[in-house]
Amino acid sequence: MHLVAPSLLAADFRRLNEAITFVNESEADWFHLDVMDGNFVPNISFGPFIIEQIAQDATKYLDVHLMIDQPERYIEDFAKAGASGITIHAEATNHVHRVVQQIKEAGCKAGVALNPHTPVGVLENIIEELDLVLIMTVNPGFGGQKFIYQSIPKIRQAYDMIQVRNSPAIIEVDGGIGLQNAQKVLEAGARVLVAGSAVFKADDPAEVVRRLKAISGNPVSMV
Ligand code: DX5
Ligand code: ZN
Repeated sequence: MHLVAPSLLAADFRRLNEAITFVNESEADWFHLDVMDGNFVPNISFGPFIIEQIAQDATKYLDVHLMIDQPERYIEDFAKAGASGITIHAEATNHVHRVVQQIKEAGCKAGVALNPHTPVGVLENIIEELDLVLIMTVNPGFGGQKFIYQSIPKIRQAYDMIQVRNSPAIIEVDGGIGLQNAQKVLEAGARVLVAGSAVFKADDPAEVVRRLKAISGNPVSMV
């Protein structure tokens, strides 16, 4: 069964508590928390201090997506703040392997994210170590962007690599995900659907989560 992870970035931060309660009570599985440093990506969002506050009320898995340069500087801070899983970008550090170990030593699940232009092959020598592969389906930095369709075969490539190498990793997709493309990405091999605008900008966010959960889409052969 796939998981749905609403991204709080699209929530109304004046009513953050309502958004947290909504995710707690909805059929969603994870909280997706987008950390942006104004350097790796042009935007700035929030850091460990805010995540620590969220963690006090959140009752589900905290999926922390670090869009920051040299994430090795902050792993322990995010773990202490309450992250369940931490995903770093392959493009953001020279030492992906070392940071993945650092995340695990801090007691969190370890993920690596790939920007749209980064080939899946960069994970070749680390795939067995990963709990999660995040395929960005937009260029990171902002919510509400258009899904990049070329991501679909890329999800499949990651899926095939995971199968062949017997890796425990699951695939997460992030960016422009909604009811219009959820089935396609699930069929390509995605297991976790991050959805920001599709959930929080909807008239009935609970219904969108329910419908995203209800989509049946298991990985199918692409050939
Ligand atoms: C983009 C972030 C996403 C973003 C998704 O850089 O990583 O998690 O919040 O937002 P939507 O679903 O609106 O594209
Ligand atoms: Zn994200």
